[in-house]
Amino acid sequence: MSDIVRIGIIGGGRIGKVHAINLTTRVAGVKVAAMADPFANDELVEWAAGQGITRVIKDYKEILNDAEIDAVLICSPTDTHAAISQEAALAGKHIFCEKPLDQDPDVIRKTLEVVKKAGVVFQIGFNRRFDHNFRAVRRAVEDGTVGDVHILRITSRDPSPPPIDYVKVSGGLFMDMAIHDFDMARFLTGSEVVKVHAAGAVLVDPAIGKEGDIDTAITTLWFENGALGVIDNSREAVYGYDQRAEIFGNKGSAGSANDAPSTVVVSDAQGVRADKPLFFFLERYSESFAEEMRDFTKAIREGVEVPGAKAALNSVLIATAAKESLRTGRPVEVPRA
Ligand SMILES: NC(=O)c1ccc[n+]([C@@H]2O[C@H](COP(=O)([O-])OP(=O)(O)OC[C@H]3O[C@@H](n4cnc5c(N)ncnc54)[C@H](O)[C@@H]3O)[C@@H](O)[C@H]2O)c1
Repeated sequence: MSDIVRIGIIGGGRIGKVHAINLTTRVAGVKVAAMADPFANDELVEWAAGQGITRVIKDYKEILNDAEIDAVLICSPTDTHAAISQEAALAGKHIFCEKPLDQDPDVIRKTLEVVKKAGVVFQIGFNRRFDHNFRAVRRAVEDGTVGDVHILRITSRDPSPPPIDYVKVSGGLFMDMAIHDFDMARFLTGSEVVKVHAAGAVLVDPAIGKEGDIDTAITTLWFENGALGVIDNSREAVYGYDQRAEIFGNKGSAGSANDAPSTVVVSDAQGVRADKPLFFFLERYSESFAEEMRDFTKAIREGVEVPGAKAALNSVLIATAAKESLRTGRPVEVPRA
């Protein structure tokens, strides 16, 4: 491998473009050698050229067959992640795959076996682990400041629900949205989730309920180390993207607030006002997306640890248990990976 890590991006949609911009403007020592999307059109070609990406193709296999390309980002729809990951591993490419790797734990296990055998780097797209707030909370756990962890609290609410066409194929709130929070729960506590009890409701949009999904949820978690946790999710917080977490332990607590465009507080005769939180994930987690790309290249070059196989599988095992708990109304044990 040359000094420059040469990357092929598979999927030129919303998140593929985010990574492309970061790799071309905010990450050193990388080159986006190609972007593949079966629906690539003039618009995408023009957009890519604006980022300095001159090779846009329809078939991602051209990327896999290109010996000059070291690594791929898999940013295509979820139901393609496992198959493309396996093919990429067999082609000897390092892999960054967007979450989730698949919705079926067995498919994930099989894929991870292929990846392990190939000996390539595998990173899963849990970008929130690279967020400055959540990293600081994690540090307070790691360095013993909060002591033994007793309680985890995560609030994770979107500003508005996704389009119904997205809901139909998303895998549901637990697999699509709360999966980030399940991974965050493991990351912050440093412990595995052994049992969940999930409650869900349709309070935002009846159309979401018609698709068999929920838009509001509370999940109680039991951790291997004895701690308890609670995650609340909503698809619509009218005041904006609400992303907070707290760890409470026997020596103290560490909690993060929302990031806002400014910290200005305006006070007048009508009241006291502050900015709403940053609009949505693209704004709130902008730096974390760049940071996860930096670590992907470091993992390839220096072998730094990144969220990988365990995070990919265990998050889906928790989401699957939460779905089952919602269906049965009972607590459900999370199987060991
Ligand atoms: N980490 C995060 O916060 C985050 C945020 C958004 C999306 N995602 C994940 O990223 C994935 C993509 O989501 P999105 O919002 O960018 O979707 P999107 O629909 O905007 O983009 C997907 C793109 O993939 C292309 N595509 C379809 N089949 C393909 C194939 N076989 N090969 C290559 N490209 C193909 C589509 O034409 C489309 O351009 C999903 O799995 C989603 O869960 C993660």
